[in-house]
Amino acid sequence: MSAPIGVLVTCPLPGAAGECLAASGLDVDHLGDVGLDEAVERGRLDGVHGIVCTLTDRIDARVFDAAPHLTAIATVSVGHDHIDTELAARRGIQVITTPGALDDATADLAMLLLLAASRRSTEAEADLRSGRWSGWDVDQYLGMDLAGATLGVVGWGRIGRAVARRAEAFGMDVIHHGRRATGEAGYVADLDHLLAQSDAVSLHVPSTPDTHHLIDERRLALLRPTAVLVNTARGSVVDEAALADALHDRRLFGAGLDVFEREPVVHPRLLTAPGVTVLPHIGSATIRTRSRMAEMAVDGLLTSLGVLPSNSTPHESESP
Ligand code: DGY
Repeated sequence: MSAPIGVLVTCPLPGAAGECLAASGLDVDHLGDVGLDEAVERGRLDGVHGIVCTLTDRIDARVFDAAPHLTAIATVSVGHDHIDTELAARRGIQVITTPGALDDATADLAMLLLLAASRRSTEAEADLRSGRWSGWDVDQYLGMDLAGATLGVVGWGRIGRAVARRAEAFGMDVIHHGRRATGEAGYVADLDHLLAQSDAVSLHVPSTPDTHHLIDERRLALLRPTAVLVNTARGSVVDEAALADALHDRRLFGAGLDVFEREPVVHPRLLTAPGVTVLPHIGSATIRTRSRMAEMAVDGLLTSLGVLPSNSTPHESESP
């Protein structure tokens, strides 16, 4: 009798994904509160052929070495910067992500942050809750209009485009930048030019060595003092210390951030900066979206392990 196919699951699986995995006949090991490092140390990856993980799990050589039978990793995320994908490819391990599943939810949250930063809602709400609001006044909490303003979208993938559609519905003019010419109206080849022309900028590029601190001190200085910056992509794309300085010095009107360089730690000067709205990486956090992401990850894994027919094509890797 051949050994059972083992699957290690590091995170809760919302929606039908958990039931689907339970019904698969595979030997499923849910880590629960045990961290992946501890599981590696305890030898829980010895007989594992597939892993279902999420973006807080660092998947690199130490995991691959501990799991000699590993052939597939499915992450419940579209971003895969937590996985050493090059090493996975060299070892013939397939990496499955969830492209498309979170476009609308993330684009909605980018709009929420764009509105919050432009209309100073975080500051206004904090005043109201703390009893500092003394009543309506003509010159109170004056923010920036979206209608007629220019939104610069950095990264023209699915989520960037979904944000653009929403921004256009708010009356914004949208320009965009991507690594390759898109051939579409509004394309700006030079990122610096896009930043200088924008009233608001929304980031939608993956975390790679090339995008590390893409928005650094020099580029922040290209933004207008009336501009707002929104980041729902990855924290590493923005130099947080430089952003905090720009906000404290009022060289930037505001920022809306859902992602951070060292999650769950947030740069302390960002937390005290004026005009900033910070959220704990909830871009895809809707019931339907997270269920769909988990289902997509599990389907992809089961397909890769040969449990489901391969006409449900394994999902290609893509980035937020
Ligand atoms: C992803 O899937 O990469 C997102 O960051 C999760 O919200």
